[in-house]
Amino acid sequence: DGSLIDVRVSTALLHDADGRVNGIMGIFTDATEQKRLEADLRHAQKLEGIGQLAGGVAHEFNNILTAIIGNVELILEEAPAGSRLQTTLSRVEQAAHRAAALTQQLLSFSRRSRIDLKPIDLRGVVEETARLLGQTFDRRIRLSVESAEGVWPALADAGQMNQVIMNLCVNARDALMDRLEASLGEERAGWEPRIEIKLENILPDELFRRSYPGAKAERYLSLSVADTGCGIDEAIRHRIFEPFFTTKMIGRGTGLGLAAVYGIVQLHQGWIEVRSVKNEGTLFTIYLPAAQGPAVPEGGKEGKDRVSGGSETILFVDDEAEIRQLAKTVLEQYGYRLLFAKDGVEAMERFRQAADQIDLVVLDLTMPGRSGEAVLKELRSFVPDLKILVSSGHHPADREKRIPEEGTVSFILKPYRPDALARAVRALLDQEGRR
Ligand SMILES: Nc1ncnc2c1ncn2[C@@H]1O[C@H](COP(=O)(O)OP(=O)(O)O)[C@@H](O)[C@H]1O
Ligand SMILES: [Mg+2]
Repeated sequence: DGSLIDVRVSTALLHDADGRVNGIMGIFTDATEQKRLEADLRHAQKLEGIGQLAGGVAHEFNNILTAIIGNVELILEEAPAGSRLQTTLSRVEQAAHRAAALTQQLLSFSRRSRIDLKPIDLRGVVEETARLLGQTFDRRIRLSVESAEGVWPALADAGQMNQVIMNLCVNARDALMDRLEASLGEERAGWEPRIEIKLENILPDELFRRSYPGAKAERYLSLSVADTGCGIDEAIRHRIFEPFFTTKMIGRGTGLGLAAVYGIVQLHQGWIEVRSVKNEGTLFTIYLPAAQGPAVPEGGKEGKDRVSGGSETILFVDDEAEIRQLAKTVLEQYGYRLLFAKDGVEAMERFRQAADQIDLVVLDLTMPGRSGEAVLKELRSFVPDLKILVSSGHHPADREKRIPEEGTVSFILKPYRPDALARAVRALLDQEGRR
């Protein structure tokens, strides 16, 4: 059809019976697909590298923010209602929560965020998210959701998918506003500011598997967000998933939205594609493995009721002094007796001294020196059903496999609020188990 393609050429000389060259044979292979796959791989490797760095930074900040937020909340409780102290501290708290939300996005990008994969009804998540977003968007923008009746359940984390849909829709909104503001009503006739979210079943065929060699699952779902906004310049297309890459004004964009989407989709064993035409619009499509079983109904939100305390003994292991201090203040308030250790070696020492008094261990997974995982193993080799609350700022999927969250081990994600720590401790202590 006259279009240009890349080819791979291999040639060979043909000889006659006397060894004289009497022809040339050439084989031309279409290399478009090969080139695309190579480019995709390079792209993925580059993002992987950035992810390592960003994830490390985010992890450190997460620890620091846990200490800041926890302590601020403690003083806030004592601040007189309506006082200047209270207003100022609330501002500190809000800022710290904003910082925590940003670090969370970075952790998502580097695939260090906690993920809880189970069969969910993605349609419900999409509709709920769209409903909430629709209320905050400019009235001129039409946001619609299209999804077939028999859409399969996805193997996904509802909270994270909510994040994905929000980030994509907010970008779509920004792209539409860009056009709306630039046009000042002079847009060409027939143009409509629209965002369409679509959910579809995909039964991979030969062609699909060839285009996406990584597609291992039997069935997929596609979730797409299309907009009629300003589009993405070809020249920057390859950079949009990088963290902190933004074309928006300072204060408007952080450049973390698509980075988080990218990481989350990867954690789901899926992938994301983008198609865009300048001044026409953009289409993001996410492919996710479908679940085998039926969808698990969404449980109620975490109860806001009062947390009860106790008089049990807790060994608290964390390398950060601020976090140990925070735990002391909080958990002692709830009546618990606390022992502390700042690393794995000290933890084992304390444990040997007082094994029969310790009812529960709170264990940080990432400590310098002996890893939390090694300590966890050793503790369990002493007391197999010891109650251990693992705390960690991130939670790679493969770690979840090594330390299954079951029986007497459970997780708490940093940064945690003081009442969340107290609640997790109580819940684990109340479980059937050692005492
Ligand atoms: N739907 C879209 N239409 C046009 N450009 C987009 C769209 N989505 C993303 N982009 C481009 O990708 C960049 C990165 O997006 P993102 O990571 O969400 O960061 P941010 O929105 O904070 O800029 C944006 O600044 C924008 O240039
Ligand atoms: Mg964004």
